[in-house]
Amino acid sequence: MNRKQFFKTTTLALAGLAIGPTILESCAKSSSSPQGPSVNFTLDLSTSANAVLGSVGGYIYSNGVIVSRVSTADLGFVALAQTCTHNGCTIVFSSSSQNFVCPCHGGTYDLNGNVTGGPPPNPVTKYAVTRAGSILTIKG
Ligand code: FES
Repeated sequence: MNRKQFFKTTTLALAGLAIGPTILESCAKSSSSPQGPSVNFTLDLSTSANAVLGSVGGYIYSNGVIVSRVSTADLGFVALAQTCTHNGCTIVFSSSSQNFVCPCHGGTYDLNGNVTGGPPPNPVTKYAVTRAGSILTIKG
């Protein structure tokens, strides 16, 4: 190995050491960051517009969020960002499997918004749901 080859090899090796961790870190972040809007809104369960939430399996969309009546969560409600992190389709709630499904390419999310199948690269944001009488507050 002559001097020119030595410098070329050494420079490439040092460059790889310098940028390698940065590339790995950015990949790790992008694959685990939940995506969804920041929200703070209420739903009145006593109104006819929200009556569907009175039954397990019912769901509505509001403020970029899908709010679903489920059989397994505390309070019986789960609120997730409604936009699939793959290509932006609107997810739906599957009462039979108690999960969320994207109709475009079959992506699936669990009740916490984590990807459980299909092409979505990131989870969707899960929001806190609290209830006072007939008023649900969705926030996060
Ligand atoms: S847009 Fe949801 S899986 Fe492709």
